[in-house]
Amino acid sequence: MSDPGTDAELRARRASSFGDQASAYARHRPDYPRAALEWGMSGANRPVRDVLDLAAGTGKLTQGLADLGRSVTAVEPDPGMLAELSRRLPDVPALLGKAEDIPLPDESVDAVFVGQALHWFELAPAFAQIRRVLRPGGVVAALWNHDDESVPWVLEFSRLIRTGVSRGFTEADQPLRAAGFGPFEQDQFAHTHRRTIESLLATVATHSLLLVASDDDRDRRLAEARAYLESVPETGTGEFDYPLVTTVLRARRS
Ligand SMILES: C[S@@+](CC[C@H](N)C(=O)[O-])C[C@H]1O[C@@H](n2cnc3c(N)ncnc32)[C@H](O)[C@@H]1O
Repeated sequence: MSDPGTDAELRARRASSFGDQASAYARHRPDYPRAALEWGMSGANRPVRDVLDLAAGTGKLTQGLADLGRSVTAVEPDPGMLAELSRRLPDVPALLGKAEDIPLPDESVDAVFVGQALHWFELAPAFAQIRRVLRPGGVVAALWNHDDESVPWVLEFSRLIRTGVSRGFTEADQPLRAAGFGPFEQDQFAHTHRRTIESLLATVATHSLLLVASDDDRDRRLAEARAYLESVPETGTGEFDYPLVTTVLRARRS
């Protein structure tokens, strides 16, 4: 097994591990449910017209926000991910940039959405920047898709694969606070992703802990997960609905 290095090195490698896999990422990661996006927006006390998708990746969340009729700008630090986003969504303004230095003017958007990425940010400078680009009464909403581990076979699959997909800041011991914002509120939304064993394993292979794992470690974990899925009645024969939960945290700019 390769030396994983220090925690800070591993974190930095994971945060920048997605670009080489941009097209696999776009094909295999799940969307976000419409109800979750609407709940995030309803935290604003102003009409939500202009939306920033921060850490937009290949545009999974961008697409959902555009489908709700919003004018969306995408910001993403990885050129490979951003190129994939522009290929898929050529009409969306797409800018290279980081959460800690957002390339937008002051008070230029009504909502900032962050899909599956807030845990990569340096939180204090990122929230200062998010507050700067939000209009008063605007909202920041952070979303994470994760496996619905209340379903026994999903729990066992997650245990086997252990990709470390972050659930964000929902743990009671890690409440989220941000200067210049009201308190964070949380809600959860169940949904599913139509899958086969092949497509589910392809998704898992785009999670950052596996992207930075050694080839041997990655192959071993994927082989164990495949054997398990083939043995389970719910997943062993063709297509199935993979149970997911989307957690949303939202806070209003004061
Ligand atoms: C798991 S992907 C999520 C992409 C997209 N939001 C989605 O929901 O599919 C995480 C993204 O965060 C980006 N990222 C990592 N660190 C970042 C930072 N400091 N500022 C902005 N984006 C960052 C990565 O480049 C990657 O595209």
